[in-house]
Amino acid sequence: MAIQIRNLSVRYGAHQALRDVSVDLPVGKITAVIGPSGCGKTTFLKCLNRLIDLQEGVQVSGRVLVDNEDIYAPQADLLALRKKIGFLPQRPFPLPMSIYDNITFAPRIHRLSEAELLSHINGLTTAVAQSGNGEVKPIGRHLDEKTKWNLLVENYLRLAGLWEELRGRLHEPAARLSVGQQQRLALARALAIEPSVILADEPTSALDPISARLIEGQFKLLKDKYTLAVVTHILRQARRIADHVLFFYMGELVESAPAEQFFNHPQHQRTAAYLSGEIS
Ligand SMILES: Nc1ncnc2c1ncn2[C@@H]1O[C@H](COP(=O)(O)OP(=O)(O)OP(=O)(O)O)[C@@H](O)[C@H]1O
Ligand SMILES: [Mg+2]
Repeated sequence: MAIQIRNLSVRYGAHQALRDVSVDLPVGKITAVIGPSGCGKTTFLKCLNRLIDLQEGVQVSGRVLVDNEDIYAPQADLLALRKKIGFLPQRPFPLPMSIYDNITFAPRIHRLSEAELLSHINGLTTAVAQSGNGEVKPIGRHLDEKTKWNLLVENYLRLAGLWEELRGRLHEPAARLSVGQQQRLALARALAIEPSVILADEPTSALDPISARLIEGQFKLLKDKYTLAVVTHILRQARRIADHVLFFYMGELVESAPAEQFFNHPQHQRTAAYLSGEIS
């Protein structure tokens, strides 16, 4: 799913947080969004699924095209948009229910029909096999309701790299999980809305290095199926995961380039200064 950003500017009252940003997010890749604190990374990400609307006194101008439709047009369908574009926040906040119910929550709200449920499971089983997260046994034709939901939960947990760890604990409260596990559960929940795009705002900043690497690993496995944009202030993490990099500085998009070029041959002096640690 293509996301094109055109002349995007954002003001919070008198403060201009983004200035005339135009860029396309590459499909099926991981785009890292980097830059010093306060440069507009979170603002940029929140503009892409209109979470920015929740801020008071914010003014947005310009266009964001998702599949060629301007999401800021008056007739834009916000519910449909947020179903296409999932958001992973900095800190996980599991729903106050079991691990299992955390995952089935969104699909149940969207009232999947029997046929949709089965088609999701089939698609997921293929995605899981391709992602290297193990294999779900082939499905027979006559599944009862409960088995279908079980398979759905197993598939999403596998996609988030959590199945082996949690298979015996599915009905425990999600709040008992470690923060790293909660963040992967948040990923599983984001995947359960069946989005095409996942936006993640510093998704590993609350995690220990091992949990952070697990999340990074899942992102890399998922990028064939999803377009990902990941805000990070950790340059090393951007180097590890990014196919493409956007560098913001004081509300302006300074450089957008494939990762290899960005890190080895930056085109702009400010990018070079940021990479060398002269500015931070
Ligand atoms: N609700 C708000 N009201 C007023 N100013 C805001 C608001 N939210 C953000 N800002 C300002 O807009 C600028 C960009 O903020 P943003 O959160 O996008 O930065 P960031 O790059 O994500 O920073 P960090 O790395 O610290 O998370 C900052 O100067 C910030 O203080
Ligand atoms: Mg931020």
